[in-house]
Amino acid sequence: MTNTDMQINLTDNSRIHEVDFNDLQFGKIFSDHMFECHYEDGAWNKPEINPYGPIEVTPAMNALHYAQTVFEGMKAFYKDENTINIFRPEVHHQRFNNSCRRVCIPETSYEMFISALDNLIRLDHQWVPKKPGTALYIRPFIFASDDLLAARVSDKYSYYIITSPVGAYYKEGFKPVKLTTPNGYVRAVNGGTGEAKTGGNYAASFLPARKAQQNGYTQVLWLDAIENKYIEEVGTMNIHFLIGDTLVTPALTGSILPGVTRRSVIQLAREWGLNVEERRISIDEVFDAYDDGDLKEVFGSGTAAVVSPVGLIEHNGRTIRLDQDEPGEFTQRCYDEITGIQYGRIEDTHNWVHEVKI
Ligand code: COI
Repeated sequence: MTNTDMQINLTDNSRIHEVDFNDLQFGKIFSDHMFECHYEDGAWNKPEINPYGPIEVTPAMNALHYAQTVFEGMKAFYKDENTINIFRPEVHHQRFNNSCRRVCIPETSYEMFISALDNLIRLDHQWVPKKPGTALYIRPFIFASDDLLAARVSDKYSYYIITSPVGAYYKEGFKPVKLTTPNGYVRAVNGGTGEAKTGGNYAASFLPARKAQQNGYTQVLWLDAIENKYIEEVGTMNIHFLIGDTLVTPALTGSILPGVTRRSVIQLAREWGLNVEERRISIDEVFDAYDDGDLKEVFGSGTAAVVSPVGLIEHNGRTIRLDQDEPGEFTQRCYDEITGIQYGRIEDTHNWVHEVKI
């Protein structure tokens, strides 16, 4: 797709001087431009880049009522004054299309996606923060935009990409987070939408997450919905356990989001010669490993969360305390390798990075 296929309307009122790059929170401020494309009569229209700003929706819009909507979360990193790195855009786009299929949203082409990202990053490259631990978070999303209260698949869709300079996702930063199992709530069930990145999954998790936070935990550690026994994910990240010298990660059984960072961690661990198992792992197995002294490290992985050490897990009144104020050695190694590749400090031998020249 060439630039002439994309209408670009520049802002004449940049807001970049309003940004405190020394105090970035997650997803609170948005770069000057956004990508926009609309679907009607069975096809995506000509895409546009416009100044970031409010969009018009009517009260009857389908997505507001029935949540026919999908999103992605990706990041771009400052490498040097000429280069911004986008991490694994192809894999994110595949997952975006998988999510679209699950909720009957028309798929989009990779060509349009990557061309939108290239244009947005070039235009707003000054919004990519430079400090360690910061990045430009990229949020592509599509929602059903029919004005119709009948609960059915929409005929019209709106596709946007917005970007936001961010710091750490959790207030703990790279310090260990505390998790608790959700006591009577479930996130997703096989055959449902758990493996799609669709808004409703997150809405359903807010009440249990709020209760967990009121009790002093960072997030919920979700268990499977049928037996309430097998560990699934954290909602804002996937989860990994280092038991002895084996990395155990809950298998993608259909109700877990297939994380891009999760996949990268597993690939690296295999290359480093670790025993790697993707399988069902019960919460009791994790407590048994802890009691036996075999549970070495627990950490989460996600685009927003990067690699986040877990310091404590509570389940039915029992507690695992990993007694670590700092990340474990393996967690740190994963963090260093992945962020090293993302910022271009480590050679990208996997072809994970898409470079944007500015
Ligand atoms: C991401 O990691 O990009 C996500 O979409 C998680 C979200 C809760 C911020």
